[in-house]
Amino acid sequence: MTKLTGSLPEVISSLRVDVNEHLASLVTEVEPSALYDPVRYVLAGGGKRLRPIILLLTADGFGVTEKEALPAALAVEVFHNFTLVHDDIMDHSVERRGRPTVHTRWNQDVAILAGDYLLSLAYTQLSRSHPEILQPMTAVFGEMVKDLCEGQTLDKEFETRRDISVDDYLRMIDAKTGALLRACLELGGVLGRATADERRLLRQAGISVGRAFQIRDDLLDVIAEDDRWGKKVGGDLVEGKRTYLLLRCLELPEGDDRSWFERIVENDGLEEHLIPEARTRMIEAGVIEDAGKQIEHYTRMAEQQLNALSARRSLNTLSALLSGMMDRVH
Ligand code: IPE
Ligand code: IPE
Ligand code: MG
Ligand code: MG
Ligand code: MG
Repeated sequence: MTKLTGSLPEVISSLRVDVNEHLASLVTEVEPSALYDPVRYVLAGGGKRLRPIILLLTADGFGVTEKEALPAALAVEVFHNFTLVHDDIMDHSVERRGRPTVHTRWNQDVAILAGDYLLSLAYTQLSRSHPEILQPMTAVFGEMVKDLCEGQTLDKEFETRRDISVDDYLRMIDAKTGALLRACLELGGVLGRATADERRLLRQAGISVGRAFQIRDDLLDVIAEDDRWGKKVGGDLVEGKRTYLLLRCLELPEGDDRSWFERIVENDGLEEHLIPEARTRMIEAGVIEDAGKQIEHYTRMAEQQLNALSARRSLNTLSALLSGMMDRVH
């Protein structure tokens, strides 16, 4: 177990090691291998482990030990991994964390079932939390799962709609991405018997972090360097996703750039060989810079919301959010 002392990067990487160790020993079953091989493949695939780290640091701010918070921390990471497996099927993504996605390496049936198993495993981990707080923990988790499913549904629906505004987009990402980050903060608070007011602040901060995080993810889809990103660059453009960047491009003054991006919508996506041109046009139209400013804006907002908690309770979490988000692409 990590002693939460030392510099923040040290604490974070040490928590990441703890989380990885526990994840690696969660699943001991072997047969049928078509279920357990992909499950182990997913859990051992690395990733930033941002969500369990946020939960553990929030819990620490409320005086909860890592040991006590660990089941919930594993639950959110296992759940996150489940969402990625199914998300990759829905988004037709071939690469995740620098490796083939589960449905590419095996097949879609395998990926659906591995995902189902991970969802159940997440609840099993959550149920190991202290009995006294099990009811509110399950309530927060259940509400999060519902919101995330709603968000993922909207994300898919938006792909074929022409009338999506930035407000629609924010509503969609608050659900598909914000809900889980919000739950990480709130579960940390519930573990530490946070008051209703504290839980409200934690939820608000979670949503702001979610916005910064998803806009950053949308941005990296265009500008990341392939090997560090671990996903195929330009995947959102090829898929015709209504990302923050594409929506901003559709709001450009009438002209060559705007028509060029409108064609992505009309054609239900972009041909792969045109990704570099999309990037150049986005840079020149100032859309990349605008996305950067939005990330900054929502990060500052999260900071203020967490600062409204008492200093001890906000400090670690806040810095972790920021460094977790900004330091590593992968
Ligand atoms: C990817 O999440 C899904 C989004 C919400 C954008 P992460 O970027 O946290 O993925 P890993 O866990 O580090 O691979
Ligand atoms: C993230 O959406 C939301 C969930 C996975 C629930 P994305 O589809 O943008 O995530 P990546 O880019 O595939 O990781
Ligand atoms: Mg998706
Ligand atoms: Mg995706
Ligand atoms: Mg993405």
